[in-house]
Amino acid sequence: MHFNLSDEHKMIQDMARKFAREELAPKAAELDEKSEFPSMHMPKMFELGFMSMTVDTKYGGAGMDTLSYVLALEQISAGCASTAVTMSVNNSLYCGPIQKYGTEEQKQEFLVPCATGKKLGAYCLSEPGTGSDAANQKATALLDGNDYILNGTKNFITNAPNADSFIVFAMTDKEKKTKGITAFILQKEDAGFSIGKKEVKLGIRASSTSAVVMEDCRIPKSRVLGEVGKGFNIAMNTLDYGRIGIATQALGISNAAFDYALKYAGEREAFGQSINNFQAIQWMLADMSTRIEASRLLIYRAAWMVDQKMPCSLQAAQAKLYASETSNFVTNKAVQIHGGYGYCREYPVERLLRDARITEIYEGTSEIQRLVIARNLIKANEYYFL
Ligand code: CAA
Repeated sequence: MHFNLSDEHKMIQDMARKFAREELAPKAAELDEKSEFPSMHMPKMFELGFMSMTVDTKYGGAGMDTLSYVLALEQISAGCASTAVTMSVNNSLYCGPIQKYGTEEQKQEFLVPCATGKKLGAYCLSEPGTGSDAANQKATALLDGNDYILNGTKNFITNAPNADSFIVFAMTDKEKKTKGITAFILQKEDAGFSIGKKEVKLGIRASSTSAVVMEDCRIPKSRVLGEVGKGFNIAMNTLDYGRIGIATQALGISNAAFDYALKYAGEREAFGQSINNFQAIQWMLADMSTRIEASRLLIYRAAWMVDQKMPCSLQAAQAKLYASETSNFVTNKAVQIHGGYGYCREYPVERLLRDARITEIYEGTSEIQRLVIARNLIKANEYYFL
C-alpha cells in the first residue's frame, strides 16, 4: 500500500490545477453573480478531455481511470464549482451509463457527441414529488407499437437548459414497482419534450438547472437504455459513481476555502499581531485541514475501487457524506476566519459557502447517504474484531 500518485496522475492533476487557477477561478465570481452558464469554458474543458474522462478513446473520450477523473475534478471544483458539476454530470451521470449499458448504435449516436463536445448530457431521475424516494416514479412510458410515449415532469435537472441529450427514467409497469422502471435516452428536439424555466439557486449559480417536461413524447423503442424494467438498478448504479463526483466537488470547494482562510489568517492583524498566532484560529485551521485530508482519502479509495471493478456503493456514500459535510464545515469556518469580510461577496469564501450547501443535497441527501451506508453494513454483517 502506498499513497503516492503516479507520474501520469500528477500530470493530470497539474494540468487541471493550472487550467482551474488561470481560467476558471478568475471568472467564477462573475459567472456566479450573473447566473451565467460557463459556456465559455466548455470548448477547452472538452479539448483537455475533462468532460469525458473515463469514456473509451474509441468513443472520443480521454480513456482515463476514475482516479484521474477525481484528481481533475478536484482542481476544477476549486476553480469553479459550477463548471465542476457540469463536468461531473456529463461524465458520471450521462456518458457513464451510456458507455456501460448502451448498445453500439446508441454509443455512436448518443455517447460520441457528448464525449467530443458537440453535445452536452443530463440525467433525469427526480420529479416534483419524488426526490429521496426515487422508486416512486410518476413519469410513465407506454409502449405503442414500436414506440414509447412518455409523460411526466422531471425536476432539478442539472445542465438541462444547456443540454442536448437526456437519460430519463420512467415507469413502464407500475405494478412491478422498482422492477417496472426503465431508462430512456431522449433528445431535446424530440416532439413533446420541453425544458422548464431555469431555477434561481443559492449556490452553484452558474450551473444551469431546470425541469424537463414530457407531453406525449413519442420515441422509438431503440431509445431504451439497458433492459426494460432495469431502470432503477441503472439509476442507482449510476449514482454510486455520481456520488464520488459530488464528493470530489465538495473536496475541491473545501480546498479552495481552506487556502483562502490560511492566507487571510497570515495577512490579517488583530491585537497587534497576525491572527494566525491565535489558538482560536489555529484550531479552526487544524480541524479544517484534518477533515479535508480524511475526505480526500475516502474519495481516492472509492475511485480506486471503481478502477479495480469492485462494488463501492458503501464507500461512495461514505465519501459523499463525509466530504459534503466537511465542505459545509470548512467553508463556514473560512467565513468565520475572514470575519465581516467573509460575509461579503467581494471575498470568494462567501460564494464557496453557498456552493458547498448543495453537495449535501443533490445525488442523494446526507440522510440518504446514511441510509445507504447503514443498509450496506447490516447486509454485509462483517465485523472488524469479532
Ligand atoms: N446499484 C444497483 N442496484 C441497486 C443499488 C445500487 N447501488 N441500490 C439498490 N439497488 C437495487 C436493489 O438491489 C433492489 O433490487 P432487487 O429488488 O432486485 O433486490 C432495488 O434496487 C430496490 O432497492 P431498495 O429496496 O434499496 O430501494 P428503495 O426504494 O428502498 O430506495 C434509496 C433506495 C437508496 C433510498 C434510493 O431511492 C436513493 O438512492 N434515493 C436517493 C435518490 C437520489 O440520489 N437522487 C438524486 C437525483 S440525481 C441528481 O441529483 C443529479 C443532479 O442533477 C446533480
